[in-house]
Amino acid sequence: MSTSEIVPVPPTFAAAARIDRATRDALHDEATRDPDAFWRRLADRLDWDRAPTQLKDSSFDRDDFRIRWYADGVLNACVNCLDRHLATRGDKVALIFEADDPATPAQHVTYGELHARVCRLGNALRNLGVRRGDRVTVYLPMIVDAVVAMLACARIGAVHSVVFGGFAPQSIADRIADCASKLVITADEGLRGGKRIPLKANVDAALKMPGTHSVETVLVVRHTGAGIDMQMPRDRWFHAVTDIQPDTCEPEHMGAEDPLFILYTSGSTGKPKGVLHTTGGYLAWASWTHEAVFDLRDDDVYWCTADVGWITGHSYIVYGPLANGATQVVFEGVPNFPDASRFWNVIDRHRVTLFYTAPTAIRALMREGDTPVKRTSRASLRLLGTVGEPINPEAWRWYHDVVGGARCPVVDTWWQTETGGILIAPLPGATALKPGSATLPLPGVQPALVDAEGALLDGEAQGNLVLLDSWPGQMRTLYNDHARFIETYFSAYPGMYFTGDGCRRDADGYYWITGRVDDVINVSGHRIGTAEVESALVAHPHVAEAAVVGYPHDIKGQGIHAYVTLVTDREPDDALRAELVQAVRRAIGPIATPDRIQWAPALPKTRSGKIMRRILRKIAEGAAHQLGDTSTLADPGVVDSLVDGARRDE
Ligand code: WT7
Repeated sequence: MSTSEIVPVPPTFAAAARIDRATRDALHDEATRDPDAFWRRLADRLDWDRAPTQLKDSSFDRDDFRIRWYADGVLNACVNCLDRHLATRGDKVALIFEADDPATPAQHVTYGELHARVCRLGNALRNLGVRRGDRVTVYLPMIVDAVVAMLACARIGAVHSVVFGGFAPQSIADRIADCASKLVITADEGLRGGKRIPLKANVDAALKMPGTHSVETVLVVRHTGAGIDMQMPRDRWFHAVTDIQPDTCEPEHMGAEDPLFILYTSGSTGKPKGVLHTTGGYLAWASWTHEAVFDLRDDDVYWCTADVGWITGHSYIVYGPLANGATQVVFEGVPNFPDASRFWNVIDRHRVTLFYTAPTAIRALMREGDTPVKRTSRASLRLLGTVGEPINPEAWRWYHDVVGGARCPVVDTWWQTETGGILIAPLPGATALKPGSATLPLPGVQPALVDAEGALLDGEAQGNLVLLDSWPGQMRTLYNDHARFIETYFSAYPGMYFTGDGCRRDADGYYWITGRVDDVINVSGHRIGTAEVESALVAHPHVAEAAVVGYPHDIKGQGIHAYVTLVTDREPDDALRAELVQAVRRAIGPIATPDRIQWAPALPKTRSGKIMRRILRKIAEGAAHQLGDTSTLADPGVVDSLVDGARRDE
């Protein structure tokens, strides 16, 4: 039985949609009965230097493991995002840049101009010695040059590694060291909600850290005009090296399986993982899913509020939309600056038709009431999307009814850094919606639910979400660590890709993601590894031990709760608490700021010394009455003191 309400496809939307019910059924049918035809259909979206004759070539079996798509095809991702549009859309606006400060006039960049800017940077990079296969780290605010930087790398076959502008020097250094990048592209400063982010100073600090000697050059975009240290000859102004370059640049001919980019993401253990995506399959999947899930038309104005530092920005700001020749808004700012109407004002100003944001932003704006929304028109909107974390039905309803005026379908899109593109989401002209559900798999995608032992569950069920077979956008490996790739994703359930998510499937076959089942916390749609926060805490001389768990948070989805045991002879106080919060911000960045630090006289451990996180999670959730079996604890008294401690802190 499906208990939740159903929101049918609006008939007017269905009538004009790219994919209606019949088309959707035909696509699913093709993907099942003649998968080669379906995979070829995706490849045919792209311009190839040499069209692939090979399509899917994959196996998740340990002995025969391979993930290859369109392997003998040759193409360039940048050419697919820019050059091929020039003849028909050279004067079409590709990017509308909306600055942090609403008083700054928007900039409109056509496909022709974007092409020229990318070519100039591509030439400059080559002159600076960047070759095909070299890694380039990009640490920029949400400005047009961030898109330019990524595409210029793709054009010359360099592998970009974008590091989110909210990360601290240590995190930048770790990511530079892991892939040995040769060049860093940054800006003097970033601007977010009127606050300045010292990007260049952060890069300077990172490059003083061990393991970063591979960097030969730092290109600096002059963005705010702030005074910064330029260290010659290492540091060069972006405009100085690009302005003198011709605005054409010969693209590299890349194999479909050549790396396109590395993007670091947090896992349940150890240091961040360098997720590696390749060229042909990734681009085909990003492009097709962007068109299908957002029902993209040529006259749409699309806006995804993500940052290019996350996979959403890679697939649904840069590669998908630009491969599709879309017009889109690039937004530097934040949802609540200068006030809670900002998103809706930008939608009116640029007549945005397709809007894609995160549940955390929706919840934060919902808290401000309907007035900031209702004083705007939003008449241009025809579709809304969400991504990054489960959306609670109440927030879904508000988004649909108040923001979308009950006219616009809401596409809740489930995917991951690792999946490259959307895997479970409605096709808005065909799929009836259920608030809180990402609905159904896209054609060609084979999700399944398994129990803890890996047995497949049929029909209505709750379990762990796996994928039984490959799709073109799948990551290919972890950079320089294929063994960890296999171990992380293919060892829990042999022969299947394990997502790390728990999920329920209802009687209609709809998927309801319940959240991570591993030691990853999803804070405002950002993945934080508990192990990373713990290692930042234990690095403090007064900390003996730390354990970090997530707990439900009204706005952020999950908050960070840290249990900290101090060294003997150190008494806890508020000054130390503030110091520890600072230590985490300095080591990782503000996104990992602990919401709570609870002093723990000791941590609950099994007799073999393993911390029982299940218990810590329950205490943090305020569900101490459901601790379950605690008989394996070495010292059950520890739990009582933590429960009391949590109560006192409330
Ligand atoms: C994790 C992936 C996908 C781009 C942004 C996040 C959670 C993502 C949804 C959704 C429920 C979602 C999952 C997933 N997640 N989208 N629509 N409903 N949960 O990418 O940082 O790689 O995180 O985000 O837990 O595993 P990411």
